[in-house]
Amino acid sequence: MRIFLLCIVSVLTLLTGCAQADSSGDTKEFVLAHNQPTNHPIHESLLDFQRLLDEKSDGKLKLKIYANGQLGSEREVIEMTQTNAVQFTKVSASALESFSESYSLFSMPYLFDSQEQYRDVMKMPEIQDAFYNKTEDNGFIGITYYDAGVRNMYTKDRMLETNEDMHGIKTRVQPSKTSVQMIEALGGTPTPMGFGEVYTALQSGLLDAAENNESALTDNKHGEVAKHYFYTEHAMVPDILIMNVEAYNQLSDEEQQWVREAAEESSVLHEPRWDERMLEAREIAEDEMGVTFHEIDKSSFMEAVKPLQDSFQENEATKEQYDLIMGEKENE
Ligand code: GCU
Repeated sequence: MRIFLLCIVSVLTLLTGCAQADSSGDTKEFVLAHNQPTNHPIHESLLDFQRLLDEKSDGKLKLKIYANGQLGSEREVIEMTQTNAVQFTKVSASALESFSESYSLFSMPYLFDSQEQYRDVMKMPEIQDAFYNKTEDNGFIGITYYDAGVRNMYTKDRMLETNEDMHGIKTRVQPSKTSVQMIEALGGTPTPMGFGEVYTALQSGLLDAAENNESALTDNKHGEVAKHYFYTEHAMVPDILIMNVEAYNQLSDEEQQWVREAAEESSVLHEPRWDERMLEAREIAEDEMGVTFHEIDKSSFMEAVKPLQDSFQENEATKEQYDLIMGEKENE
């Protein structure tokens, strides 16, 4: 099915000779691909983006959304966005790390002190400039971000009290060098893989653990196999909406403005939805899936990743962004 859809998108790209899946008359239709199911809050926020774009452009700019990883893993859809086979994708900033190193900063453990601080920083125009517009040479630009919550460790059955308990635990991480280094620093055994493979890998025993926000337990069903969730709060990695740079440059100033406004407004609408849904996810995981949530002392986890955090001070690829975020934290 996925191959079939990929073929359709490729054929459309060849036929139109450009980005738009359809650009008949005054209407331009773009493809947006992402990897979450249609009951996931991020999908609903992307539907807001679709609706707002339609409204602002008076029906001239339309989006066709392929959810559920139908068009491929995050890595695959980023590649498709680079070649304009799809125009938009929403991916984790961690997945962008191997395309543009500046994004590795978001996988730095304990970069932010609180969710409030993270949201404030992500809204700063200087931060947006420092990340979003630096990837033109890679074929895409960032348009907005969507909160993807706080990432925590969860295991099938192992108990975690300190990072020492991570020893020998096969832990899934996103395909990101920094995330691999983080699990190594904690003493675990990192296993990078695409999100779509995690459920089966947990079930088959290839993995003992993974790390993510609460909705991974419910919307992605990991709570059926992973029964313990620990509030290590080791990362807040935003989802980024990226767009093919040629498709963007082909838009008029007014059209670009509609895209930016619709995206930004959908990002704002996303936050209360996200908060509500994470609380709901915890309730469902506890009551219906038998997952136990553990508040733990994070200090040993924070201590263990200190050398990795410190390495960012010297990292030229992320220096500008690092200094900006640290400066903002000091100003608080
Ligand atoms: C989050 C994020 C996804 C990402 C996933 C992962 O759920 O929103 O974009 O794919 O984490 O861990 O891979």
